[in-house]
Amino acid sequence: MADKTIIVTGGAGFIGSHVVRLLVSRYPEYRIINLDKLTYAGNPENLSDVENKPNYVFERKDITDAESVRAVFDGYLPDGVIHLAAESHVDRSISCPAEFVMTNVVGTATLLDAALACWKGRFEGKRFYHISTDEVYGSLGREGRFTETTPYSPRSPYSASKAGADHLVRAYFHTFGLPVVISNCSNNYGPNQFPEKLIPLAINNIRDGLPVPVYGKGENVRDWLYVVDHACAIDTVFHRGRNGETYNIGGNGEYANIDLIRMLCRIMDGKLQRAEGTSERLITFVKDRAGHDLRYAIDFTRLERELGWKPSLRLEEGLEKTVDWYLSNEQWLQHTVSGAYRQYYREQYENR
Ligand code: NAD
Ligand code: TYD
Repeated sequence: MADKTIIVTGGAGFIGSHVVRLLVSRYPEYRIINLDKLTYAGNPENLSDVENKPNYVFERKDITDAESVRAVFDGYLPDGVIHLAAESHVDRSISCPAEFVMTNVVGTATLLDAALACWKGRFEGKRFYHISTDEVYGSLGREGRFTETTPYSPRSPYSASKAGADHLVRAYFHTFGLPVVISNCSNNYGPNQFPEKLIPLAINNIRDGLPVPVYGKGENVRDWLYVVDHACAIDTVFHRGRNGETYNIGGNGEYANIDLIRMLCRIMDGKLQRAEGTSERLITFVKDRAGHDLRYAIDFTRLERELGWKPSLRLEEGLEKTVDWYLSNEQWLQHTVSGAYRQYYREQYENR
């Protein structure tokens, strides 16, 4: 009998796979159920090193399918849920907003209902942990940082759908007493990230000598956190966070996109033994993203002060590790960028 059974949704995705790996190896006495639909972003290869562990179970299910979700809850009687499954890419949310509403809003509501029905008002030792993003707070000017009390002001279909989900989670806490906790994190990077996102896309293109598309003038600022640090923060909040509370998670790593890409180019020149400046010549400024948020920056004092978490890596260190991983996992990248990815890439970047 496991000490705790935890359902992780979206465990085959980028962040989810790091969370599953951490929980499966750090807590052999727990049973970890990975509930994932395996969309284009879900890749079982991300978890090939843990798939045979006795405390790991995979359930291929859709979080918007109430019947299947209820069956998983009834079958495993979880103590906790860590909810990461989502449509996660802003550009895709601009071309197909409805999918984001379905997965991120309806899917979250379906999981909340399943938890409520399964736990039947007996909430002792139970927890529903919703993973959200700093993008729900909107866009900053040159100054200031998001805190947990910054009013929500989402501006893309992605961030609006995540904000909708966050509101539902809080509503279930206030209305039904469901024990919930939420964290809002800044941009993640690291191994296993699907190459639609800026850093892996740039690594892939630089390696192949292809143009590196930078939206607008590259002046938009993001705060970057190494994905394993995020997984550790999630472990901390899941075990020690307070019910009904929100925790911001950040990397202390604010960079304008163009500065980040230049740093990446220098690292790649070194790793690929190319003459200095070779990769930078690939930088290509392209048409800006519609409604492109200027700046995100996150104040994570609460998490640091109350629960003692802080990021372990600076961006440059994390980028080195990330580049090393992509260059030594070419097969993963080849599988990922075949077929549907090529179609997506053409639609997204041709004539831009
Ligand atoms: P991802 O796109 O890499 O993975 C999403 C996973 O969810 C995939 O495995 C996919 O198969 C699964 N999924 C999608 N729809 C599903 C459905 N209907 N039913 C079941 N599974 C489904 O995403 P990610 O970057 O790992 O992000 C994970 C979570 O963290 C998301 O909720 C995202 O909003 C949040 N987040 C991401 C970042 C970031 O920088 N990537 C930052 C802050 C917060
Ligand atoms: P992204 O990785 O899509 O994350 P998010 O939009 O959630 O922050 O993009 C990070 C930043 O990089 C964002 O300002 C948009 C920009 N960007 C580019 O300049 N070129 C690209 O090809 C991509 C995908 C993003």
